[in-house]
Amino acid sequence: MNILLLGSGGRESAFAWKIAQSNKCSKLFIAPGNAGTGQYGTNIDIKVNDFEGIKQAVLANSINMVLVGPEEPLVKGIHDFFLADEQLRSVPVIGPQREGAQLEGSKDFSKQFMVRHNIPAAASRTFTRDTMQEGFDYLPTIGLPIVLKADGLAAGKGVLICLTVQEAQQELIEMLTEAKFGEASSKVVVEQFLQGIELSVFVLSDGNNYKVLPSAKDYKRIGEGDTGLNTGGMGSVSPVPFASDEFLQKVEQRVIIPTIEGLKQEGIPYKGFIFIGLMNCGGDPYMIEYNCRMGDPETESVMMRLESDFVDLLQGVAEGNLDERELKISDKVAATVVMVAGGYPGEYLKNKTITGIENVRGSQVFHAGTYMDGDDIKTSGGRVLAITSLQDNMFNALQQATADASRIYYDGMYFRKDIGFDLL
Ligand code: AMP
Ligand code: GLY
Repeated sequence: MNILLLGSGGRESAFAWKIAQSNKCSKLFIAPGNAGTGQYGTNIDIKVNDFEGIKQAVLANSINMVLVGPEEPLVKGIHDFFLADEQLRSVPVIGPQREGAQLEGSKDFSKQFMVRHNIPAAASRTFTRDTMQEGFDYLPTIGLPIVLKADGLAAGKGVLICLTVQEAQQELIEMLTEAKFGEASSKVVVEQFLQGIELSVFVLSDGNNYKVLPSAKDYKRIGEGDTGLNTGGMGSVSPVPFASDEFLQKVEQRVIIPTIEGLKQEGIPYKGFIFIGLMNCGGDPYMIEYNCRMGDPETESVMMRLESDFVDLLQGVAEGNLDERELKISDKVAATVVMVAGGYPGEYLKNKTITGIENVRGSQVFHAGTYMDGDDIKTSGGRVLAITSLQDNMFNALQQATADASRIYYDGMYFRKDIGFDLL
């Protein structure tokens, strides 16, 4: 079959790498892709939110399946767009329809969903401009620090952790009355702070059956020792050593099953990935968030450990028989180190020539913000490359990925040298 993959990050490079290994895939197209995805298929210069452009590409290239990488087109309803179009209806889309994507698109929706289905999560309430005074009354009642979340998509920046009630009040005012995060903060979820260690669990669902993919931990801060500004993610490891079988059993019973059953009960069709962001609080899982897609850079580590045919699994999602497909996961450990542009996550350098990729020995190099300029590979994004190594143990995987990152060079390049070392 011919597959169209939407997106252009490290996640999509890892998807493309894995899809290209399947003999079920005849031709792979990536829109818009990057210099790395171009090694596994044909990049098409169409943006992920250009639904009409995507339609033309699907028809012109006889596409039989579309895999959506990022959340934005899902929240904007790309799956619904396909179902509503006579020519596209028969082409399966992997990724939920608009309603299911609300698990990520609206923090208020997702919190209410968790409450309705008794899924463990931090206590919270949602406020608007009209109920701001009630919000002020609520702030001092939930302990410190206080977590404020813009309801809508805010490019990963919509969560604030406030150390004092005064700070939380000020931020609440800015979010609700000064549109600090635009329309996304016209509603704000005020939430209790959860103490613990964070991890991500990934589920693939056909709307009825599900498979639990490997869990992973990502490192969000720019600086070593988890300091400095938040980023899209600076590295990841899979599996997560503190996620024991017993803990993962609890996750399945208390979170995954109620989520799948809850979606079914509410008549919300869901074919795609569910990213479950969790806090391990003294051995018990508590929800932080849902995303309606895979994580980046978690996908890079997860795809390296996936031994079964990825396209076969996606086909199971499309056809509603995921239970009949094989999921085989390597016992080895995958570690990913993300190389970023100078200045990231602030204003960052671009158009720098990347050298040394050919010197990488024991890792897979997944491209994120890169493009081809003649024969040169150049940087275009904040996160430039993800270097992933699969080894017998975590120490070797971390050491190999870090050593391989050092073999690559571009002006202003930076990566964290401490990814995963807190877990050893
Ligand atoms: P999110 O955008 O929902 O992923 O939130 C960003 C980050 O904020 C999460 O990855 C957590 O590190 C942190 N966070 C969110 N909610 C909470 C909470 N209730 N308690 C503690 N940390 C949180
Ligand atoms: N790495 C976190 C995310 O993809 O949202």
